[in-house]
Amino acid sequence: MRRGGWPDMAVAAPALCRYLLLLAQEHLEFRLPEITSLLSLYGGQFSSQQEIHVNSPFWILNIPSEEMARGLMKRTVCAKSIFELWGHGRSSGELYASLKSYPVDKMLPYLQSDSTYKIHIHTFNKTLTQAEKIKKIDALEFLPFNGKVNLKNPEHVFWILEDYGMDPNNVPEEPIDLYFGRWIADGQRELIESYSVKKRHFIGNTSMDACLSFIMANHGRVKPNDVVFDPFVGTGGLLISSAHFGAYVCGTDIDYNTIHGLGKASRKNQKWRGPDENIRANLRQYGLEKYYLDALVSDSSKTIWRKGMLFDVIITDPPYGIREATRRTGSQKETVKSAERSTENHIFISSSYHLSDIFFDLLKFAAEYLVMGGRLVYWLPIYRPEYTEEIIPRHPCLKLISNCEQMLSSQTSRRLITMEKVKEFKDQDQNSYSLDGQYMPYKGHNSFREKYFSGVTKRIAKEEKDNQK
Ligand SMILES: C[S@@+](CC[C@H](N)C(=O)[O-])C[C@H]1O[C@@H](n2cnc3c(N)ncnc32)[C@H](O)[C@@H]1O
Repeated sequence: MRRGGWPDMAVAAPALCRYLLLLAQEHLEFRLPEITSLLSLYGGQFSSQQEIHVNSPFWILNIPSEEMARGLMKRTVCAKSIFELWGHGRSSGELYASLKSYPVDKMLPYLQSDSTYKIHIHTFNKTLTQAEKIKKIDALEFLPFNGKVNLKNPEHVFWILEDYGMDPNNVPEEPIDLYFGRWIADGQRELIESYSVKKRHFIGNTSMDACLSFIMANHGRVKPNDVVFDPFVGTGGLLISSAHFGAYVCGTDIDYNTIHGLGKASRKNQKWRGPDENIRANLRQYGLEKYYLDALVSDSSKTIWRKGMLFDVIITDPPYGIREATRRTGSQKETVKSAERSTENHIFISSSYHLSDIFFDLLKFAAEYLVMGGRLVYWLPIYRPEYTEEIIPRHPCLKLISNCEQMLSSQTSRRLITMEKVKEFKDQDQNSYSLDGQYMPYKGHNSFREKYFSGVTKRIAKEEKDNQK
């Protein structure tokens, strides 16, 4: 799918330089909001003259400086590498012509006789033989390379990147796009492994995957010294990525055992949580303990905070009622019928916190407690057959920035919603829905659990039927 008319795709100002971004082919929808958010964090904006192929691993960016390119790569988990783009074409002839028109004075500092270099070939959707690679490198001998080749530890690395399209069943003989550039920096993909939940000290049933946690912090534009809050903190998976980027982190959860690292373990082969399985220990595991403010046992439906703008970013994964209950505290009287008085929970918990109320309360909380320009990033579960953009919860103080889908099953998904506070919260915004129907909570979210399980039940029934055939 080619897509033009992107929000900030202004025609590039002459001072902008061309860079090539090589993106990972994972979480495709999340990539543009990540790159756009990070560029805006560094004072830039997403700008490309290229008609961007949304799902392509190659995007040409026009940004003002190498410093901004390096800043972007210190944060992104969606992009693998960035290059100063020296040439681009739809055929090798076009690439060579483009390289010949690249200003020589911009090339020469990297091609000096006392320097070392290497040329690397990267292909997408095709594997080349060594002989084919060498032929392509040799064809670039018209470039004034004066330095010595050093394959192990070169000062400068140049890349030929070839795009053979998106269809693995229809790979063209020749690439559809070719690029040549000077490597500048790699992104932060290694964080996905080093912060993997599999190796984490304290985990729960719904601990957030490391890659998505970093994407959330990037969509939220978390920056050093920010205060980041997760009102449904669980095991603190979302605090870790923010702390990695230098923000001070805190959270609340209704579950006493989770906050205090007690109760049943989520790992196979382990019955009870160990003595130091808690959020603080998770941060300590990554050398981030100094960024930990605290985590409190508290019900998000009842605010405990003093009035005022307190948080720079709110990042959260509210309960959907699938692997954890959606619940809130209630008075003994309120809960006498439905509630369980649990010595483990230490508080009265009713089970009637509807999803629509959770999201309504979350937006209201963000509108009131975020700083101006601060962001709310959260997951919204969706029953896909009923999805339209209208069901995304709104608030007059919050502007929708991005909305990316992650599939859970053929019928259900969750959407990562990013909103930004654009208007100061006034008392009348408490009940925004009574002023304007567009802010009415959408009640359809409430039946997500039933719809999710009806899908699961149908699938199991189908699998059983298929097995009997
Ligand atoms: C999807 S989990 C969050 C997981 C977390 N992101 C992590 O990495 O572990 C949702 C959490 O919300 C908590 N929760 C449910 N209802 C709540 C409420 N009313 N107030 C605060 N927390 C609540 C649950 O106990 C659960 O830990």
